[in-house]
Amino acid sequence: MKIFNTKQEIKSFIRTQGESNKTIGFVPTMGALHEGHLSLIKKAKKKNDIVVVSIFVNPTQFNNKEDLVKYPKTYKNDTRLLESVSCDVLFFPSVEEIYGNNILPIKFNFDGLEHQMEGKFREGHFNGVGTIVKALFEVIKPHNAYFGEKDFQQLKIIKKMVEKHHLNVEVIGCEIFREKDGLAMSSRNSRLNNKQRTSASFIYRTLEKARDKFETENAAKTTEWVDKQFKKHPSLELEYFTIADEKTLESLKNKESDKKYRAFIAVFAGEIRLIDNIRLKTN
Ligand code: PAF
Repeated sequence: MKIFNTKQEIKSFIRTQGESNKTIGFVPTMGALHEGHLSLIKKAKKKNDIVVVSIFVNPTQFNNKEDLVKYPKTYKNDTRLLESVSCDVLFFPSVEEIYGNNILPIKFNFDGLEHQMEGKFREGHFNGVGTIVKALFEVIKPHNAYFGEKDFQQLKIIKKMVEKHHLNVEVIGCEIFREKDGLAMSSRNSRLNNKQRTSASFIYRTLEKARDKFETENAAKTTEWVDKQFKKHPSLELEYFTIADEKTLESLKNKESDKKYRAFIAVFAGEIRLIDNIRLKTN
């Protein structure tokens, strides 16, 4: 695996690949890699000649300083995992390499997608995500880029950015990878202590039950039921549970049979914030 730390080095590598018509698949990450990331890389390997992974803990997308400081950093293990799935290139730049000394996000307009759910609770988060993903796309110029559906809102926002800025990349969403007990894989899971880790499986269990409830109940009743379950839970704290239209991410008022809906959730286990979502059935 080749490792590049500067934009100039990776740009010149990408140029040579372009000259021999190689397709580039790209998986952007913030490191602390897990099976979920590896599944994206494996998917990228199937469709592209060269797979590039970036590891960059992007400061402009953290609305909470402590979350940034405590974000797990496991570079040695990450490179070992990347080698194990035959990743071709790792791009591992410093903050200065990406931002110079102007660590500020660009202000985007994502046609309202940014004001829903995560946007309400993590001020400026999606400007930070848009800034780094756009910058990485400009350096790596991938043909295909892979993102997990755990961050479904992020995936929608990146697709919107690509559309609005006419970027020449196909954004591919990949299904959520789960632990055996249903917990969605996330780099933040490694910060959970044993007790929190055990409790965290309650999140997906509740989402599954909410999905079943939603088959016969409306969104308000289902939401009320979820609120109640978390009020009774001794350690998890619900930040939000929302049933939203997959296309607009606006919360649902009345079910319409031709629309696709998802339930989205954010929960605190102690100071660790976990998110998840599930596709709902409409009959
Ligand atoms: O999903 C993530 O890990 C990050 O938001 C991303 C897309 C790598 C941008 O920093």
